[in-house]
Amino acid sequence: MSRAKQLYDWADSRLDVENAQKFLGKAFPAEDSFLLGEVAIFCFILLVLSGIFLGLFFEPSTSDVEYDGSVQEFQGEEMPEAFVSVLHITYDVPFGMFIRRLHHWAAHLFVASIGLHMLRVFFTGSYRNPREPNWVVGTGLAALSMGAAYTGYALPFDEFAATATSIGYNLTISVPLVGDFFGQVIFGGEFPSSATIPRLYFLHVFVIPAAIAVGIAVHMAILIRQKHTEAPREADVETGDRTVDADDGSVIVGLPAFPNQAAVSAVVFFLTAATLSLLAGLLPVHNIAEYGPNNPAATPSLIMPDWFLMWVYGFLKLLPKWASFTVGPVHVSGEFIGGVVLPGLVFAAIAVWPFVDRAPGQEHFTADPLKRPWQTGVGVAAVAFVMIASIAGMNNILADQVLGTTTSVVNPYLSAALLLVPPLYGGLTYLLLRRDLPAERTEQGPAPGEAAGGDADD
Ligand code: HEM
Repeated sequence: MSRAKQLYDWADSRLDVENAQKFLGKAFPAEDSFLLGEVAIFCFILLVLSGIFLGLFFEPSTSDVEYDGSVQEFQGEEMPEAFVSVLHITYDVPFGMFIRRLHHWAAHLFVASIGLHMLRVFFTGSYRNPREPNWVVGTGLAALSMGAAYTGYALPFDEFAATATSIGYNLTISVPLVGDFFGQVIFGGEFPSSATIPRLYFLHVFVIPAAIAVGIAVHMAILIRQKHTEAPREADVETGDRTVDADDGSVIVGLPAFPNQAAVSAVVFFLTAATLSLLAGLLPVHNIAEYGPNNPAATPSLIMPDWFLMWVYGFLKLLPKWASFTVGPVHVSGEFIGGVVLPGLVFAAIAVWPFVDRAPGQEHFTADPLKRPWQTGVGVAAVAFVMIASIAGMNNILADQVLGTTTSVVNPYLSAALLLVPPLYGGLTYLLLRRDLPAERTEQGPAPGEAAGGDADD
């Protein structure tokens, strides 16, 4: 018996390698849009790696220290240590600026790829029975990714970021009855206190990444257990050792996990890393030297959150003053309604969606969005809603720099647009798709689509 065979038998008797090989032959549908989820995973890996580098130099403290570094304008100035350490990373640590930018761009791409992945799953109906649990886990991951980005945004403790993140503190304490308690737990009390940055740092580098890692593990475990969805097949598929019927949803036709899909995934990983490196090399991020350290006595002229939280900011800006009331000892503020209740309702609506668009039996083929008039109409309306709310979040820029007027003039139009445009777009989408749909073709039956080739997995 050769040495290699002996080694294999040794490993097999302990690790059941034979079975693992079966797993490596697992089929992946050859669909490009299915790679969006992988891009999100790779961004997460790059975020953790670049974050470890940054963590070696970042100081989570707001105590003042004297600056001694390359930025002449701050030389000898007493400034918060967190701010000083990020200046140090950016201008004095070898590769510091590159890694900081890479971390920043990876955070943007992480949230963007999750959003696009979610839209792919939505419009192709891939959340339907039996994949509802994975959709719910995914909704949690989307919220966590925003939490990770928000807590990271605060850390350099520059004037812009500190002011923008103070909005989060105000929203937290606006929650009736328990707001102050959560303000203490998350922010260490008044914003900013000496405990704020250490608390946010702990959430950013440990609690939230750990929760995301567990969430991704559960998401993947459910995915492996349930298998991917697959585009409907045009005809029966010959896979070499068997014939898979066109409508047999219990079997996946696609690339084996190893080596084919592993090679595709490696390419996606390197493309993700290359894109982020290019962005980091060429495009600056959040220039803290320009903003200067946090100054509690001043308010910057322009305050805004990152793009993916702009819709929440839009709710806050559009909510009328009278939407704030007191019932007995409980005060319900506009901030609570706009910044906590409405976003909470949006996330709740996303989470329960697969239970609204219920499929009676299991659906293992993706649906064609053009053949799902009302579901696609709801999706279009939802995208329009988030986009208009995001534009409302930038109402000051729209008013000042685009229309040359004031926010009090544009706000009523934005409110009307937020209420009217989504149902209008959704309704039009519905009518257009309905018109093109022959009466007998509903979304439930597998419509002819692309046929995949390769291995079968059951
Ligand atoms: C950290 C965030 C996330 C990561 C890393 C992630 C990763 C993935 C990956 C790699 C897949 C398999 C390939 C693919 O379909 O793209 C997948 C499938 C899936 N994801 Fe996500 N996902 C995330 C967030 C979400 C969100 C926000 C939702 C929806 C609310 C979601 C719902 C689903 C569903 C239902 C599937 C199964 C789809 C199918 O079988 O076609 N995921 N996810």
